[in-house]
Amino acid sequence: MKCKCGRKAVFHSKVYRITLCDECYPKFYIELVRRSIKRYGIVKKSEKVLACVSGGKDSSAMAYALKELGYDLELFHIDLGISEYSKESLKSVEELAESLDLNLNVVKLKDYGFTIDDIERKKVCSACGIAKRYLMNRFARERGFDIIATAHTCEDIILFFIKNMLSGNIDYISKLKPRIDAFDKLVAKAKPLFERTEKENATLVLTLNIPFTPTECPHAPRDVWKEIIYDVELKKRGFKQNFVRAIAKLAESIRTEEWKVKHCKICGEVSNAEICSFCKLTKRF
Ligand code: AMP
Ligand code: FES
Ligand code: ZN
Repeated sequence: MKCKCGRKAVFHSKVYRITLCDECYPKFYIELVRRSIKRYGIVKKSEKVLACVSGGKDSSAMAYALKELGYDLELFHIDLGISEYSKESLKSVEELAESLDLNLNVVKLKDYGFTIDDIERKKVCSACGIAKRYLMNRFARERGFDIIATAHTCEDIILFFIKNMLSGNIDYISKLKPRIDAFDKLVAKAKPLFERTEKENATLVLTLNIPFTPTECPHAPRDVWKEIIYDVELKKRGFKQNFVRAIAKLAESIRTEEWKVKHCKICGEVSNAEICSFCKLTKRF
C-alpha cells in the first residue's frame, strides 16, 4: 500500500480511511493530539506540564507530541524498584529525555523505605497505583507544575470504565475526564492521548525512533477485558473512538458530590481517611 504522497505506507486506518508513510504519519498523529487537546481544553499553553513517563511507548509518544506542540514541559519518572523492568524503564526515559532535550526528574520509591518488589503479590498493582498518584501529585505541586500529564490511551479509559461500571463505582467515572482541574492540594490532571490507540502510539515511536522499552511490567496481569475491547473493534470499526468520546461526555456530566477535604495527619496530603494510603504503605515498612 502507498501513502497519498506516493511513498511506502507504514500506517493504515480503516477508521480514518487513510494510509500514510513514515513522513506523513507523524504530522497526522500530532494533528490528532492537537485537536483533542483543543476540543476538550486538556492543557493550556500557559501551563507548566509535568509529563509522567514510564519508559513505555505511550508515554514516550505523549512526551514527543507535547514537545512538538510547543508546551512547556519536563519529564517525571518514578523508579518503582521492580527488578530488571525498572532498570530498563529508567534507561529508556533517560534516552528519551536526551533525544527530546527535556529535563528529566526521577523519584525513587526506595527513598520512601520500600519498593514494589517488597509488596505481597495480591496487593502489588493497587500499592503501585497509590504510590504513583501520590508521588506525581506531591512532586508536581512542590516543584510548581500546573498540570500532570499521563499517557492513558483510549483502551485504558474504556477498560477503567467497564471495570468500574461492573463494580458499581459510578462516581469513579468522573475521574475519566480528559482534564481534571486542580482542587485543594491536588494538581490538575491531563490525559492528552485519551482518544489515541496503543497502535497509533506504537507507530509514532517506531517510525521516529523515539526511545521506549517494549518490556512490560512483570506484575501486569493478562487482561481479558482488553482482549474483548480489541475483538469488538475488529467486528465494529470505530467502536473505541466512539466509546471513549461517549465516556468523556458522560464523565463531564457527572456531578461529583461536594466532599469535605481531609488531610493526612502524617504528611498533610489530601486523603479520605485520617492517614493517607501512601503513609499507610510507608508505615508498614
Ligand atoms: P499505568 O498506571 O501503568 O497504566 O500508567 C498510566 C500512566 O502513568 C502512563 O501512561 C504514564 O504516563 C504514567 N506512568 C506509569 N508508570 C510511571 C512511572 N514509573 N513513572 C512515571 N509515570 C508513570
Ligand atoms: Fe505498577 Fe506494574 S507498573 S505493578
Ligand atoms: Zn500521608
